[in-house]
Amino acid sequence: MKRKISVWLCIIIFVITCVSCGNYEVTEMPMKKEEENIVQAGKKVGVLMPTREVERWEDDAENIRKALEIEGYEVIVEFAENNPYTQITQMEDMLKKGVECMVVVVVDSEIQRETLEKIWKKNIDIIAYDRLIMNTEAVSYYATFDNQSIGVAMGTYIKEHGKLDEVRMKDEHKTIEFFMGDANDNNAFVIYQGIMEVLGEYLEDGTLICKSMETEFADISTRDWSRVFAKKEAARILESYCEDDSLDIACCANDTIAYGIIDALNECGYTQENWPLVTGQDAEIEAVKNIINGKQSMTLYKDTRVLADKCATMVKAVLEGTIPEINNEDEYNNGNFKVKSYLCTPIVVDKDNYREILIDSGYYGEEELK
Ligand code: BGC
Repeated sequence: MKRKISVWLCIIIFVITCVSCGNYEVTEMPMKKEEENIVQAGKKVGVLMPTREVERWEDDAENIRKALEIEGYEVIVEFAENNPYTQITQMEDMLKKGVECMVVVVVDSEIQRETLEKIWKKNIDIIAYDRLIMNTEAVSYYATFDNQSIGVAMGTYIKEHGKLDEVRMKDEHKTIEFFMGDANDNNAFVIYQGIMEVLGEYLEDGTLICKSMETEFADISTRDWSRVFAKKEAARILESYCEDDSLDIACCANDTIAYGIIDALNECGYTQENWPLVTGQDAEIEAVKNIINGKQSMTLYKDTRVLADKCATMVKAVLEGTIPEINNEDEYNNGNFKVKSYLCTPIVVDKDNYREILIDSGYYGEEELK
């Protein structure tokens, strides 16, 4: 009997030793990247884009997808065609599919608030991508290009290339009209503020004259940032400009709006002789072609690869319960609180530097711009 007990004791001690040694080894061995990714696998991330109409959003979506799939996440992407109710349905569907984090370019914060808050209460993280989600607690972090600096860059380009200080010294004037973004998109207002920070003083002292007298944001916003609506608006305004006092500057908040204005200018008979300075944003292929052929003066290059990577690091951090890198805690108040943000820097592109910034960096191939 005694012998039997000691045999059993030996076996038990042997087993315990093996198990604990095994455990020890497993916890100490560093995990390989592929193994870590398998752990992440099964975690689903939803990516909600506003529309396919604006070229950049497909690039953004693709870049976010790639960055997250490398980390082992399953990614579901949807486009809402600028309809907040479509985006609500897409969010509800993603909820049913079990996503654990949503990356959202919101179409309309107001209309979507209830849904966003319902999702938030289920402990699903929400990353605001490019556009801040307004007046709610339902935002974990914000990844964007600095919209204030986009506005300042547009204003500064107009100031420098329109030679506004010289014009002022000579007691002359230039004409300007403003075509801003969608009023439901916080970016549109922030960009407007940045523009006015630079151009306000020239409007006040008459160096810049806006014939339509439409300089308040509410009067110059463009529904859905749409080319068609922008063209309609520009056609109406251009009627008040005659040949000897043609429009000198069309301050457009993005490339799609610039296309609409260019369409209207063409129809109105503007030529190389009196073509105005036209601004834009996004560095879309069509816009860069317009810059090369002189129809658009500048655009703002926002490398969607950089923003998507930043966003992916935020997603990874929230899903792993760590804190992502942020570089701004003060500037983006959504009406409820200051949202912790990562702001990327946009670059001004015009005919003098498009080759270096867009082609040499590999963002576009030379062929694409022909
Ligand atoms: C983005 C722009 C874009 C616009 C229209 C804005 O929120 O910041 O890059 O052109 O939406 O989709």
